[in-house]
Amino acid sequence: MKIHVLGSAAGGGFPQWNCNCSNCYGIRSGKINASRRTQSSIAVSVDNEKWVLLNASPDIRTQFEQFPCIQPKKGLRDTGVAAVILVDSQIDHSSGLLTLREGCPIDVYSTEVVYQDLSTGFPILSMLEHWNGGMRWHQIELDTQPFEIEGVDRLRFTPVVLCGKAPPYSPHRHDPHPGDNIGLYIEDLELGTSLFYAPGLGVLEQHLDKYFTDSDCVLVDGTFWREDEMIDAGVGTVLAHEMGHLPQSGDSGMITYLRRFQKTRKILIHINNTNPILVENSPQRDILRDESIEVAYDGMEISLETQHSHLSRAV
Ligand code: MLT
Ligand code: MN
Ligand code: ZN
Repeated sequence: MKIHVLGSAAGGGFPQWNCNCSNCYGIRSGKINASRRTQSSIAVSVDNEKWVLLNASPDIRTQFEQFPCIQPKKGLRDTGVAAVILVDSQIDHSSGLLTLREGCPIDVYSTEVVYQDLSTGFPILSMLEHWNGGMRWHQIELDTQPFEIEGVDRLRFTPVVLCGKAPPYSPHRHDPHPGDNIGLYIEDLELGTSLFYAPGLGVLEQHLDKYFTDSDCVLVDGTFWREDEMIDAGVGTVLAHEMGHLPQSGDSGMITYLRRFQKTRKILIHINNTNPILVENSPQRDILRDESIEVAYDGMEISLETQHSHLSRAV
């Protein structure tokens, strides 16, 4: 399977339009060594033709312009998008559906609670019904049974319930429901390779260990370095865990956890603009290098062709 990172930043992107934090100021003024990033989304394919989008970001139009594989090739109106899977109902993950309106109906997969959010608090699925009947919604059941997408051979998706946070407009914001946030374990049934994708991962629950062990590659929550990063940067009042994100640093942070999975390729995605790991020559980035943890960037290509982890474990 091939993974193309369409966008690697958290909500707001990097730089964020109204932000003057040291990173956002630094990149605008050319004073830091960093790359611009659009908002969080990846595309997965086994044939370079049909792509499953994992989330639809508000930057989707720019992201598609930068990615010829997904552009029209055959008909007068055409797309490489085979389906869209949503891991939550956050604006940075779902509002790109509005940009896809000209392509309705497109197959959209989400949990029931995400469907409710996107039909009530942020009713984009209801609005889109005015475009050729709207998106064709499919429910992701939460029984961890894998599902497949019609017309997409070889790929199998397993939803993994995560402890995250529903968005502010969700009736579940302060009343968490299973399915508000999921991760996806994605298998290439022909090559036997697999990816675990979880851009919003607030709590490291034990049931996750097996996905981190079994996957050849994990693309996981890289939002914040510090628990109090937004407060420290002077741009917010909430802690990382209150937003449903696990910081990288600290004894119970992401770095310490990832150290347990020596055979798995580890990549952080959904990076907030305040995070010092955006600066290529920062001490925090050096720490990640020492830990063999990569930082996703827009346009990054990940090719999972052989079972690195499984083969090396068998030796
Ligand atoms: C989040 O994941 O917490 C979001 O990036 C917040 C947002 O989109 O504003
Ligand atoms: Mn987000
Ligand atoms: Zn900023």
